[in-house]
Parts: sequence; C-alpha cells; structure tokens
Amino acid sequence: MKTVVTLSELRAARAALPEPVGLVPTMGFLHAGHLSLVRVARAECKSVVVSIFVNPTQFGPEEDLAAYPRDHAGDQAKLEREGVDLIWAPTPKIMYPPDYQTWITVEAVAQPLEGSMRPGHFRGVTTVVAKLLNAVLPQKAYFGQKDAQQAIVIQQLVRDLNFPVEIEVCATVRETDGLAMSSRNKYLNPRERRAATVLYRALMAAQSAYERGERDGGRLRQIMVETVHTEPLAELQYVSCAHPETLQELETVSGQALLSLAVFIGSTRLIDNIKIGPP
Ligand code: PAJ
Repeated sequence: MKTVVTLSELRAARAALPEPVGLVPTMGFLHAGHLSLVRVARAECKSVVVSIFVNPTQFGPEEDLAAYPRDHAGDQAKLEREGVDLIWAPTPKIMYPPDYQTWITVEAVAQPLEGSMRPGHFRGVTTVVAKLLNAVLPQKAYFGQKDAQQAIVIQQLVRDLNFPVEIEVCATVRETDGLAMSSRNKYLNPRERRAATVLYRALMAAQSAYERGERDGGRLRQIMVETVHTEPLAELQYVSCAHPETLQELETVSGQALLSLAVFIGSTRLIDNIKIGPP
C-alpha cells in the first residue's frame, strides 16, 4: 500500500494501477462504516484508492472543522489490513490553492434537510468530490447510505456533469444498539452515547407504524418527533418522510420513502435514516 500527497504523486501512482479502479472518499478517522465501503470496493475492483481529506469547504463557520477527529497512523493501519492499494491524503493547500475560485452547486436535491440546516455544506461536498473524481479517475466510487442526501446529491452531480464513473451506495453500518457509526460519535460522553440511540428508535417506531399500515407522511413524521421528545438529552433539528429520489416531503407514502432526522445530543449533531416501502 502506498500513500501519496501531491497531485503529481497521485497521477503517477494512479497510472500504474490495474483497472477497474474503485475510489472511497473519506475524511479519515475511519470506523467500520468506512471500512465496509472499502470491502465492497475491494470485492468489485482490481485496485482500491481511499482518499483522506477533511474538506474545510463543507464545514460551516460554527461547525467542528478544527475539532474534527484525525488519526492518520490508525487509518493507515486499518486500510493496510483491508488490502487497499493507494491512499491519497492531500493538504488543504493542494485542494484549494490561494487563487481557488471554482465551485459546483447542485440545486433542488441539495436544498432541503441537510442543505437547509447547513448552508454551503453540499457546495463544499460536490466541489471536493468532483475534484477527487477528476484526480483519481476511478471507474467506480463508493458512498454510504448513512449520508443519504449526500449520496443523492453526488448521483445528481455525476449524471448532470457526465462524470464517467459508477456511484455505488452501501448500507449503513450500525453499533449493536442501532446507533449508526459516525466519526462524531466520539464526541459523546457515556450518558449522551446512551441517549444517541433515540435516532434509531425514532426510525424504528415510524417503520413499525408503517408496517402496521400507517401511510400518512405527517403521522410518520409525528411518531419520530414524539420518540425524540422522550429523550431529555436530545434536541430535534428536523424529521422527514420524503420521496427517496426528489427528497420532497410526502403527504402519503405510496411507494418507497426515506425517513430521516437530525438531532443534537448535547452539542453533537447526529443524523440517521432508513428507507421504508417495497424495494
Ligand atoms: P466521511 O464522513 O468520512 O464519510 C465517508 C463515507 O463513509 C461517506 O460516503 C459516508 O456516507 C460513509 N459512511 C460514514 N458512516 C457510515 C456508516 N455508519 N455506514 C456506512 N457508510 C458510512 O462523507 C464524507 O466523509 C465527506 O462528505 C466526503 C464524501 C468524503 C467529501 O468530503
């Protein structure tokens, strides 16, 4: 396994990789959720590239960029064990030199949910993902269902700008109590960690109601709200029962729906989602 930093090192190493090449973009501090993407890529591609870059442009001014957890040595050891071929870990200066001035904005699907709570977030994500794809030129790129809207926004980007890459969205990996794995779980103290299961409990409560025949979108959202309100440490930011492609809120669930929510547990902001309905 090789680790490169600069674009010229990356290009040289990339040129020597047997194809198809799979790319797993990450911000590092890798956990089992990230590694599940690496495993799918390993099974499907001749070569696997993992990028590690804490992308400053997707963090808001009040967000946790400076505090975002980093562990390059640990990440390297994990990726070595997974049989990764190449790590690309560029610096902020390489990705955004002082005269940087090009941005990519996806419109409708980037506007609700995370887009409305985190202004500018998806502009940073789509810009950096476009740069990663252009630099690595993978045949396939892997993203997690954990960040459902991010995956939808990236699929839109790739379709709209004709990136010659196949996007694969991989299932959310959870702790045994249902909490979706996330680098941000590290911020939770033991009491908060127990409270954090409320996101999954809210999703499960709405799913059970759906399975009992509830098809009213407003009612499914209400069930999630009520579940989150049972947890004193939780502060709800939004709940959604939306069309899984357009992300428009549903009045009635007729096909598939994406249930999602964002909740503060103390000062840590967590998100989660599940899909309900026929596949
Ligand atoms: P990061 O949060 O490091 O996540 C990297 C990838 O891992 C994303 O596609 C994310 O959806 C996936 N992932 C995270 N937790 C997961 C889990 N519990 N189960 C399955 N997959 C999971 O998402 C980003 O970085 C950045 O926005 C990035 C796409 C790298 C652009 O900067």
